[in-house]
Amino acid sequence: MTTTDNWTEIKAACEAALPPEVVAFIEQNRGMAHSESQLIATLHMVQAATGFLSKEQMNAVAQLAQIPLAKVTGVATFYHYFRLHPRGKHMINVCLGTACYVKGADKLSQRLMDELGIQFGETTKDRMFSLESTRCLGTCGLAPVIIVDFDVPIDKGVG
Ligand code: FES
Repeated sequence: MTTTDNWTEIKAACEAALPPEVVAFIEQNRGMAHSESQLIATLHMVQAATGFLSKEQMNAVAQLAQIPLAKVTGVATFYHYFRLHPRGKHMINVCLGTACYVKGADKLSQRLMDELGIQFGETTKDRMFSLESTRCLGTCGLAPVIIVDFDVPIDKGVG
């Protein structure tokens, strides 16, 4: 491990920015060959603990793991799963798959955007709602489909 003269201060700042279990995970893997391969797991842990990946947290991961910040932000921005902004209390996902689109998902989306005053990928100012789009959820018989807080509707053949 390569450290600088002010490693103690850098490490303390990283520990303040990250949950203790993430710090322990990074330190456990830091000395291993290809320790950067643990990066996705590390970012999952950070997001699970805080709901999103802040710039400060990504910088702390890079510093502690001793990998380039560009690599951390590259992974965080490449995978759709990772969120770079805080989420609202309630997550609204609108399916824009073909069946849902044909059944009016575009109009539904516009109504939600108008009501909430946000676009896809944004969160209301009061942090109550985040709006996302998704692709076919496998429940096309219920189209158009919206998922609120990850409760996936089950098509029971009714309707
Ligand atoms: S297209 Fe929306 S659930 Fe299949």
